Amino acid sequence: MLDKFIIEFDKALKVSLPHNLKNERQNPSKHIDEPTLSDSQRKHSEALMRINHTGEVMAQAMYQGQALTAKSKENKTLMQHAAIEEIDHLTWCKERLDELNGSTSIFNPLWYALSFSMGALAGKISDEVSLGFVAAVEDQVCIHLEEHLDSLPANDNKSSCIVKQMLIDEEGHSKMALDAGGKVFTTNTKKAMTGFSKAMTFLSYRI
Ligand SMILES: [Fe+2]
Ligand SMILES: [Fe+2]
Repeated sequence: MLDKFIIEFDKALKVSLPHNLKNERQNPSKHIDEPTLSDSQRKHSEALMRINHTGEVMAQAMYQGQALTAKSKENKTLMQHAAIEEIDHLTWCKERLDELNGSTSIFNPLWYALSFSMGALAGKISDEVSLGFVAAVEDQVCIHLEEHLDSLPANDNKSSCIVKQMLIDEEGHSKMALDAGGKVFTTNTKKAMTGFSKAMTFLSYRI
């Protein structure tokens, strides 16, 4: 039990604090020239990419929590594999934040802890609920990413290129979870999750 705790704590530190995680896929915006942004545009792009970075910290936590309590070996492997894919998003968002002279949210350790707990709880209930939770969360993330694509400065192609690839991947994660037998959550449950994500976006936009 102590070993498991130390392993999970180590993962949490790597993800929620400035990290050296290795991405598998290259940053899709790597070959796009840095756009000329006004100070207010740069700040807005930075704030949106900070939200996206926090979202990816939460995705890591959720998948790690679910993998820890997954009932079946198949589901555990699925969750661990998804967490590895999300590392790409996490590193791309951090790289873009660095380019924009931005910082990650100071609340990331808190969001990691909350998200890890919810993931572990969902996994503990059943694989069906756990996979349904993934689909519902990823659907929520897709809504945010679409809003960000509308809101990002029109010439910030570097940020929008990353967000577009993330949107494609997150749609895939939602489909994967439902195809694997995930329970479709009710509208009321999804509404409660929207409240939680609004608190995260409100805080992460600022600090
Ligand atoms: Fe992601
Ligand atoms: Fe995802």
